Amino acid sequence: MVNYVDATSQAKRTPGVIPLHGAEGFAGMRKAGRLTAEALDMLVEHVHPGVTTGELDQLALQFARDHGAVPATLFYKGYRHSVCTSINHVVCHGIPGDRPLREGDIVNIDLTLVVDGWHGDSSRMYPVGEISRKAERLIRVTYESLARGIDAAVPGNTTGDIGAAIQRYAEAERTSVVRDFVGHGLGQLFHDEPNILHFGTPGMGPRLKPGMIFTIEPMINLGRPQVKILNDGWTAVTRDRTLSAQCEHSIGITETGHEVFTASPAGLFNPLDAR
Ligand code: MF3
Ligand code: CO
Ligand code: CO
Repeated sequence: MVNYVDATSQAKRTPGVIPLHGAEGFAGMRKAGRLTAEALDMLVEHVHPGVTTGELDQLALQFARDHGAVPATLFYKGYRHSVCTSINHVVCHGIPGDRPLREGDIVNIDLTLVVDGWHGDSSRMYPVGEISRKAERLIRVTYESLARGIDAAVPGNTTGDIGAAIQRYAEAERTSVVRDFVGHGLGQLFHDEPNILHFGTPGMGPRLKPGMIFTIEPMINLGRPQVKILNDGWTAVTRDRTLSAQCEHSIGITETGHEVFTASPAGLFNPLDAR
């Protein structure tokens, strides 16, 4: 069982307690989500062969500073960077560094900007130059998975309806859904209730109510769903080394449906739209 409480009454995460946000929270998320999307838009022209993921990290940090925002991942649980950069078979939490991107790579950049205390969390795929057809297909399936999940995020549905919509589609496309990482509530907290599984059974899990704010961030693999964590304690990779992709939006449940806080003002969220 879960309980729903006024978000303003909760200072920290409590298992089984789902905060419901009001107009102030939605306004805060709109601003944080938009700035995060603008930062991810800014990075598009910088992703090319030869650029290092460390350089992309610095660009994101500078953008945050220039706009009065703070990257939520900086010094979060010992993490020391502004973004996660997950290349090819890296599923998520790839650490920026000296590795130059190469033609044909696909890289996910995941950024959370904190603006006036509110967290905008989003990630997208960035193709590096020309990419293979299988990489392109994986990106297509991953974006459509997120779209199906968002479509199911309406009041009266449950979190299980979101996961089931993603899983049904991704598996019909002969890809697999990573089980080890989930979407999450957020707001003035980076990671809050509820967990949003990207797989599941229709009708299971907490019912969606207006005022809930959370991410949906499916990780989809061309091969098997299993992951392992590298010795750095962060980098998650596919066990079978097949390609993995992810995309993430922060959304809020409204009376009639949902609002996507991290939509790209420039229409650059899905890189394949531009091709
Ligand atoms: N932004 C990630 C998410 O979508 C969290 C990254 S935590 C980090 O929830 F420490 F790895 F950066
Ligand atoms: Co997230
Ligand atoms: Co994220």
